[in-house]
Amino acid sequence: MLKGKKILVGITGGIAAYKTASLVRLLVKEGAEVKVIMTDHAKEFITPLTLATLSKNPVLSEFYDPADGDWNSHVDLGIWADLFIIAPATANTIAKMAGGIADNLLLTTYLSARCPVIIAPSMDRDMLKHPSSVINLETLKAFGNIILEPETGELASGLEGKGRMPEPEAIIKEIKSILTKKKMNR
Ligand SMILES: Cc1cc2nc3c(=O)[nH]c(=O)nc-3n(C[C@H](O)[C@H](O)[C@H](O)COP(=O)(O)O)c2cc1C
Repeated sequence: MLKGKKILVGITGGIAAYKTASLVRLLVKEGAEVKVIMTDHAKEFITPLTLATLSKNPVLSEFYDPADGDWNSHVDLGIWADLFIIAPATANTIAKMAGGIADNLLLTTYLSARCPVIIAPSMDRDMLKHPSSVINLETLKAFGNIILEPETGELASGLEGKGRMPEPEAIIKEIKSILTKKKMNR
């Protein structure tokens, strides 16, 4: 069902970024064409080399290469994708998305995307409960984005609560269901 589907995977600087490596591997295994965009902070949690190897495509991160002026077109990426998933999505990136801030490649691509956008918030339970996070997620939902409900359990902070990114297998199920609905609505 994912064969030939063009999936853009955005990764931000959350501890759950390691899980996204498995997500990318599963998407490729299912026959999807995968391109990964990482924020600078995401690279502190997982290496672009891992993601480039698993996705079989160079990882995108910068607006342009200062060495030769070669640039990544966020507009082309936004048009290319059948689906854009941002997992994990940090409180910081969620706030920027809700506010229309466009200061990195992931955010400019988000603003340019014509496809369904899935957001997997992942953060400590108190960050998730903060009124700013609640309002920002409601705003993104009102924009038509699909918000994956964070799971409850042990968090990286050592606290228990809601804020975990769903497991890659569950995210794949969600992606399939969204792409099926999209096909039916055509
Ligand atoms: C060890 C560590 C783990 C972090 N985990 C998270 C997280 O799970 N969720 C989150 O929203 N921010 C987390 N942060 C904070 C983000 O990395 C920080 O807000 C950063 O500016 C996010 O940038 P980005 O959204 O551009 O990737 C963490 C920071 C550290 C040092």
